Amino acid sequence: MRKTISLLLGLSSLLALPLSANDEAVKLNEAKEIAKSFGGQLKGELEAAMKAGGPMSAVEVCKQRAPAIAQELSAKHQGDVHRTSLKPRATPPQAWEVAMLEQFNARLAKGEEITSIDAYEVVKEGDKSTLRYMKAVGTMPVCLTCHGSQVSPELQAKISSLYPNDQATGYSAGQIRGAFSIQLPM
Ligand code: HEC
Repeated sequence: MRKTISLLLGLSSLLALPLSANDEAVKLNEAKEIAKSFGGQLKGELEAAMKAGGPMSAVEVCKQRAPAIAQELSAKHQGDVHRTSLKPRATPPQAWEVAMLEQFNARLAKGEEITSIDAYEVVKEGDKSTLRYMKAVGTMPVCLTCHGSQVSPELQAKISSLYPNDQATGYSAGQIRGAFSIQLPM
């Protein structure tokens, strides 16, 4: 009897290994899809807002729609989806996000393409595991209107009034502006 039990225990722990690796791959894939969807929706809304009312009204759209889309995705995937940056406008980074963002800048400096820069880790707290995923967001010329070093005085005044602690200007194209940050329970 004892032998059977230990045999069964042995078998189940053998089986548990490939299962949890598979779970990790599935969650990682889900996180990557969320980042893609978040980026796609934001790009669409930003372009439409810039076309419709220029940067002064697009700022308002960013302020309302970016957190709203993040919340929709968080609820849909029962996780935490947001954007952050080492020089944040809206959402300051947590310690683990600072570490990944610094790693991203180091990888960019070594010549890696921004579009391929991402990272993940799995952390365990008690019996709960969480997958943390970040994907770098590059600064494109269109972003400089609101994140560059020559933001028009009128727009700068508006940004400063909406975000008194704004740090997200002074960028140039090709830098990492920030990242999508996604946490999914496993
Ligand atoms: C019309 C002005 C405007 C333009 C253009 C713009 N942004 Fe932003 N950006 C904002 C505002 C406003 C926020 C804060 C949104 C919020 O309240 O969540 C923001 C926040 C962000 C954040 C979240 C991190 C942080 O600083 O809080 C990232 C990442 C970001 N922008 C990247 C970009 C990229 C990449 C582009 C170009 C494709 C871009 N932005 C173009 C206004 C703009």
